[in-house]
Amino acid sequence: MNTVNDGHKITRLLRAFTLAGEIDGDAIEEAARILRSDGLVAFPTETVYGLGADATNSDAVSGIFAAKERPYSDPLIVHLASASALPQVAAEIPSEALVLAERFWPGPLTLILPRAEAIPAVVAAGGATIGVRVPAHPVALALLRATDVPVAAPSANRFMHTSPTTAEHVLADLDGRIDCVLDAGPTTVGVESTVLDILAYPPRILRPGGVTLEALRAVLPDVQGPTAPASTVQTTTEQQNDAAIALAPGQLERHYAPRTRLIVFDAAGEPALAAIHAEAEAALARGERVGVLLPDDEADMLALPDVTVARLGSSDDLPAISRSLYAALRALDAQRLDIILTHTFGMEGLGLALWDRLRRAAGGQMRTV
Ligand code: TXA
Ligand code: MG
Repeated sequence: MNTVNDGHKITRLLRAFTLAGEIDGDAIEEAARILRSDGLVAFPTETVYGLGADATNSDAVSGIFAAKERPYSDPLIVHLASASALPQVAAEIPSEALVLAERFWPGPLTLILPRAEAIPAVVAAGGATIGVRVPAHPVALALLRATDVPVAAPSANRFMHTSPTTAEHVLADLDGRIDCVLDAGPTTVGVESTVLDILAYPPRILRPGGVTLEALRAVLPDVQGPTAPASTVQTTTEQQNDAAIALAPGQLERHYAPRTRLIVFDAAGEPALAAIHAEAEAALARGERVGVLLPDDEADMLALPDVTVARLGSSDDLPAISRSLYAALRALDAQRLDIILTHTFGMEGLGLALWDRLRRAAGGQMRTV
């Protein structure tokens, strides 16, 4: 076990797997013990790393908001080991919820349900509903079983920053602020869960994510996609974000963001690559340091030697692009560049979640081609 200390707490790094590739029962027990004694444990899920606390304990949950510097107005997702624990967190369970749970759990789908009294209001930003999911990661499930309480967990990053897909990303944001990170290597889905409001009629996606709109419609044909943003060309300040949280939790125009200026072209393929090429040349001519985030095949075509390139995998492999997006964004962000250029990947399948994250990472603005 390693320890690091450059904040108020000593953040322990616990490896979740043994060298033989099995889940380390001692590490899981230790992390569960920390959670049961009101501590903060970052743990892997199939989407991104979460920052967990005992969801039934309001003091422990408050610690999450403090560590992330997250406003109390942004509600958390509660994680369960199985759908059979739903009555512990939800006051009512509509039949659609059971159908969806049966089909998609464990997995990257968060359902909005009426909040049970046992779950303190701080988890839900004071609201009457709660987001719930069963994550599909063996380490997350082992931890949830060992802890034996519902675990509230947002993504384990500083508020508004890019979500973490490795334990190193978690430490980069939260070292010294949390008790422990359970390290299980990179996550596999790479974008967060789909948040679905099934209390609305028809049910509506609040945040697109790892379960696609098409997959949801195969089970519930009425499901609506996310509402379009008010405008694609709006300046976004932190004050606007505060107002936005109050109106629609989690629907911030600036979120998932690198520190470097990011320009996203809302187009794919050849036209997008041409626009990025032109923008990169113009920025280089101004003496700026330029990074691009591109699928492998497009990166190979970009003939600009002075540009820093982060590769996302093959352009026809949206799961690979989703898996590598946040790590690639963080890697470019660490390069002290002036500008990062990228483009969207259509609106179908995982393309919708990628479109949403890229738009928010760019502060709510995208360029048309
Ligand atoms: O994949 C994920 O969902 C990851 C992993 C750790 O499970 N978690 C995650 O949590 O992304 P977070 O807090 O970063 O994002 C949760 C989203 C926010 O947009 C929040 O506003 C929304 O879910 N949410 C949570 N509870 C809600 C509620 N009761 N009503 C509406 N939206 C809710
Ligand atoms: Mg988050």
